[in-house]
Amino acid sequence: MSVTELLRPRPARRLDKRPRRLRASAALRGLVREHDVRVASLVQPLFVAAEGQPKGPIASMPGIERYSVQAVTGEARALREIGIGAVLLFGIPDFKDAVASSNDDPHGVVQRAIGSLKRDVPEMLVIADLCNCEYTDHGHCGILDAQGDVDNDATLELLGRTALSYAEAGVDVIAPSDMMDGRVGYLRETLDAAGHAAIPIMSYAVKFASAFYGPFRDAADSAPQFGDRRTYQMDPPNGREAVREALLDIDEGADIVIVKPALAYMDLIRAVSEVSEVPVACYSVSGEYAMVKAAAQNGWIDEERIVDEMLLGFRRAGADIVITYFAKQYAAAALRA
Ligand code: PBG
Repeated sequence: MSVTELLRPRPARRLDKRPRRLRASAALRGLVREHDVRVASLVQPLFVAAEGQPKGPIASMPGIERYSVQAVTGEARALREIGIGAVLLFGIPDFKDAVASSNDDPHGVVQRAIGSLKRDVPEMLVIADLCNCEYTDHGHCGILDAQGDVDNDATLELLGRTALSYAEAGVDVIAPSDMMDGRVGYLRETLDAAGHAAIPIMSYAVKFASAFYGPFRDAADSAPQFGDRRTYQMDPPNGREAVREALLDIDEGADIVIVKPALAYMDLIRAVSEVSEVPVACYSVSGEYAMVKAAAQNGWIDEERIVDEMLLGFRRAGADIVITYFAKQYAAAALRA
């Protein structure tokens, strides 16, 4: 048969299976929808800056601000009112040195923010990111050894001290993001020994050495002053290793594991969620936010629909919890809908 003959109009073949049947109306589509985004499973990251540090908007993250300790409680209250149940705190201290001395300061910016948040907005779950990179003058996530590489075991001690200071300040959840080996077990032991057995550890178990953190490092002034983070954060091509990292942290007692970044690592959200016995979070990071904002500001994409699709995609991939700079705007839009 010639191609022309083949393409001649003819009666449609009988079809038993017509997936379009279930797409015919909004009601039908709503009935068979497999996944949704719950505002209660979103986490809003918040930057808290010490007295002498710049506050206000961050150029590469339109809509995101650095708050003072006083102002952060107002923002948390506004978030709570639109249904956001959890915030993730990042501190920008006044003082940096080689050994991150300002990180475990009981009067440090994060410790004070935790205190006032738990006093003024007690229903808001306060998660504190635990890392040294915002507190070291060299910008690396731990103490350096003689070769200039991060000393794993010396860094653990530092993390332990800071975790205790967060616990004493009243934090709800601690989220170590440094990627040192063994930190979850170390922190669990340290917290338990100090009477903080009830504080969950939400571990950045799978965190890649990624260019997607660019805008964050501007916001938190935490870019490494030399080299990069490839000796501690994961190598982007590795998927099997991501599962290993997640299982190790779960084994050490992690209560929640995070995959980060999210958008370019959806396969690993899926892989980890399939083997994890604890809830899985993904962190849609600053670069993901900045890309969407930049394209939307140019009128190139429909921002609200793009955000819906991204968040849904994370849920479909297997994320129970989504950490995203879009949390506030998504919750506000959900209220309007
Ligand atoms: C701290 C930390 C980083 C991010 C979260 N915690 C920066 C980094 O590892 O360089 C990135 C968050 C984002 O890009 O939104 N170590």
